[in-house]
Amino acid sequence: MLQLAQRVGRAKPSAIMVIAEKAKQLKATGRDIISFSIGVPNFLPGEHVYAAAREALSHDSGQYGSNRGAEALLDAFLRHIEALGFSGYGRLNLSIGIGAKHVLYNLAEALLDEGDEICFAAPYWTTYRDIADIVGAKVNVLHCGSQQNYKLTPAQLDAALARKPKVFLFNNPSNPTGMVYTGAEIAVLAEVLVRHPDTWVITDDIYHSMVFDGIGYHNFVHARPELRERVIFVDSVSKTYGMPGWRVGLVAGPESVAKAVTTLNSNHITSLPEVITAAAMAAFSGPQDIPQAKCAEFAGKRDIVMAALNAIPGVICPRPQGAFYAFPDISVAFGKRHGDTRIDSDVDFCAALLETKGVACVPGSAFGEPRALRISYTCPTAQLAPGLERIQQFFAELT
Ligand SMILES: Cc1ncc(COP(=O)(O)O)c(C=O)c1O
Repeated sequence: MLQLAQRVGRAKPSAIMVIAEKAKQLKATGRDIISFSIGVPNFLPGEHVYAAAREALSHDSGQYGSNRGAEALLDAFLRHIEALGFSGYGRLNLSIGIGAKHVLYNLAEALLDEGDEICFAAPYWTTYRDIADIVGAKVNVLHCGSQQNYKLTPAQLDAALARKPKVFLFNNPSNPTGMVYTGAEIAVLAEVLVRHPDTWVITDDIYHSMVFDGIGYHNFVHARPELRERVIFVDSVSKTYGMPGWRVGLVAGPESVAKAVTTLNSNHITSLPEVITAAAMAAFSGPQDIPQAKCAEFAGKRDIVMAALNAIPGVICPRPQGAFYAFPDISVAFGKRHGDTRIDSDVDFCAALLETKGVACVPGSAFGEPRALRISYTCPTAQLAPGLERIQQFFAELT
């Protein structure tokens, strides 16, 4: 019998999409569904982005573009990262991908041979695990529970790096927890990184523009500039500019890494389309008022979510300070019943919540933390309070 490659057997469909699909099906049957499931920003980019795309269409060359990204896009990105505190980078430090997800996949291909170790904190973005599995890397998951605010401690990082993994993958602000590391926390972790020179460091910071409470965005390179030799910064237009469907991701790091990503691009995507390139350039170079306004809006929604979760006895939710997620520990519900249904896990909980209350959340086990669930709170404001009330009712009905 003809066989598929073994790596495909290791690839799993996204657990988040499974819940989103189920919610969609229920909606199609006429049910009133409130979705807190998919991590989409739920706003559109500014008119200047569409104008740039239209303008590019009128000058379309119809040709292939650069494997690394058009020079004008790279220059716009250089100015963008300079504003984020990354200085001294040039075009040769950069490359592009079809979204940050593709960039991360390319980085896994570029840095990890089969059997190499990669470590990252849990809760983690589901795709990290899946990409590592596809390329056959060994994963060392560093568990960071709610009791440590879902944040990696210096001691945990030190122990993990003592094993000399090939790659340490870091996500700040975090999907799924919304936690953000302070400048002081980043500085201490950077000290640990400096002591362990044998590991590449990928920082997936695509939510860097959504940080609340004035704590700011910080990267290891800001704390210890010499880490530029090993730190690979991943960015995207998806969340910051409300452009997840436009599929533009970028990477800034050592020249050898940017070159490897560019070479991989030359063998699959070739280039980004011209219209998309023009739109991404406009997003980076144009007015930043929409991201700023959205950041303020999400901070307000975070407050509404936290007030509702804090009012539920036994639910513990470290206060998110960025992105648009909350990640409550709901294990107080385990062993209880909702109607005839016994809740023994996060998956039972989310299935019963969707079925009985029409609220879709993603089980924490999809992110390596089975005691929790993820709430993505970018839905229209009018749905937020009713959705949260339904979650409160669900808890109140547990026996
Ligand atoms: C932490 C994190 N990294 C990367 C991505 C992928 O972003 P993109 O849309 O640029 O592929 C996501 C998307 O949800 C994410 O949450």
